[in-house]
Amino acid sequence: MAQNIPKDFIDNLLEKVNIVDVIGNYIKLEKKGNDYWARCPFHSEKTSSFSVSENKQFFHCFGCGAHGNSIGFVMDHSNKTYPEAIETIANSLGIEIPRDKESTKKFEAKKIIQNSLEDAKKQFEKQLKNSEKAISYLKDRNISGETAKLFNIGYADDNFQALIKNLEKKYTELNLLDAGLIVKKENKTYDKFRHRIMFPIHDVSGKTIAFGGRIIEENLKIPAAKYMNSPETPLFSKKKVLYNLNLAKQTKESRESLYVVEGYMDVIALHQADIKNTVATLGTAVTQENLLQCFKYTKEIICCFDGDQAGKKAAWQGVENIMPIIKDGDVISFVFLPEGKDPDNIVNKGGKNHWNELVNKKISLEDFIYNKFSSESDINTAAGKTQYIQKVDKLLDKLNAKILKTIISNSLKEKVGAKYIIDNKGNEIIQKRKITKSASPLQKAILILMHNPNIEVDESIVNDSRIEKNQGIIILKSIIKLIKNDNNINMGRILEKFRHESDHYKILEQISRISITNYEFPGKEFHACICLTIKNYLKEKLQESDPSDIKKSAKIQQEIREIDDKSKKF
Ligand code: GTP
Ligand code: MN
Repeated sequence: MAQNIPKDFIDNLLEKVNIVDVIGNYIKLEKKGNDYWARCPFHSEKTSSFSVSENKQFFHCFGCGAHGNSIGFVMDHSNKTYPEAIETIANSLGIEIPRDKESTKKFEAKKIIQNSLEDAKKQFEKQLKNSEKAISYLKDRNISGETAKLFNIGYADDNFQALIKNLEKKYTELNLLDAGLIVKKENKTYDKFRHRIMFPIHDVSGKTIAFGGRIIEENLKIPAAKYMNSPETPLFSKKKVLYNLNLAKQTKESRESLYVVEGYMDVIALHQADIKNTVATLGTAVTQENLLQCFKYTKEIICCFDGDQAGKKAAWQGVENIMPIIKDGDVISFVFLPEGKDPDNIVNKGGKNHWNELVNKKISLEDFIYNKFSSESDINTAAGKTQYIQKVDKLLDKLNAKILKTIISNSLKEKVGAKYIIDNKGNEIIQKRKITKSASPLQKAILILMHNPNIEVDESIVNDSRIEKNQGIIILKSIIKLIKNDNNINMGRILEKFRHESDHYKILEQISRISITNYEFPGKEFHACICLTIKNYLKEKLQESDPSDIKKSAKIQQEIREIDDKSKKF
């Protein structure tokens, strides 16, 4: 869909819109100095570290690192897709998006699906009130009327036509098929959910996007799945949604931690026992999308699993899924419940206290990895140790969070008494503790330029042939080109220009996370950074060169002195 909106239109839109107005529509901003400030909407905090710069058309949180332009804010804050965010902004300015017929149609279709789901939800809730069987099932499971109402729990009648008969007055057959509410077989249409307790699934903003339905009675003649979910639709993707995030995110406890459990009923029972910071995956292992969503609202994710083999398997699958997107500072813990127990059983028997007792035994990500790998190999033997280390390396290879990776890797190896890594030739090599604490000079230069596009760049130094192959320089040059073409450009728009060049965008995204000091002379600092990049290149070259080649070494040293001198001139 994004391709349908012309790039020019997007850039034009960002030129017209003011990020202060956009963000001001969602949160209250206070002007202090040049910038606007607020408490960050993406993490919980008591003081304001969320800043919005009108000049740069960019927001940045000094607490959690959230940042971006107007489009990025709307996407993250309202969980919207890229085209949806553009649309929201365009609407707020009264600008019409030039779309082709195809995309207009898709957009309308989504709205119709949305409406039909809301209507179905109302009908299911009404039907629950009239079904003794359904009510007594909920009673047996200890769910109060108040809880049922809060979660909009409903009932799908034991009838093939109950929903369709009602909704066909307002929607076409195709609408209801698209919404996943009905099924068509051999030219006959009928309700998908029948004789089931219905759990509406909401998106973060509270809109109904799908349903989960649980059987009430086991019919041995016609065995049916215990739970049935809506199919994937334009509104619903099982992997992306967490049940109850819309309510959980509003509770104070969620700012500290969020429990991720396995079932709808677990969330509901926990809520009733006053544990409200809980969400559930929809029958899948924790996914990357789940993690990203949760960390918008909490500091710690506590994944809870049933203590059986299936639970352990799901937990491990989750770990493998999320490895690539774990960030430094993310806290992820695991709770394995006693065998055969789920959160619903636990709070129904022992209440909140028993739950707290069990979750106090949570283990860290690192311990979970250790428990798994150390149980798979005999770590008392050299061969077992090697196997263990190989597994650790293979798993951590997927982890992009540098600091966390170093810490976990060292600690997991120290646990088996291997402080040194053994390379594949069997030699011991001392592990380099390479923790990147701050940005490289080149990253800093890019950052300074994005924040201050009006500095006068000495291109002779940027074009220095010694660093021309450096990825960062290549990016830097394209930024300079953008600025030359449009001297009113700002940080928000620069970043946007790279959105569809995924490699560069990723790098730039990372760089824009780094907080920047307000330099009195940003131009000076910028050029000093480039000079330092050249100097570092030369120093590396010097180290690599053959020390007996005195002529060559002297030449490099001469070059280093020259670049030092040049650096002082800016
Ligand atoms: P109760 O038996 O009602 O207590 O369910 P539970 O919440 O304990 O669920 P269970 O541990 O059996 O399953 C956890 C989650 O997996 C459910 O909430 C569903 O999302 C999903 N699930 C379970 N059974 C099925 C099934 O038969 N089909 C599908 N599609 N999903 C299921
Ligand atoms: Mn259960």
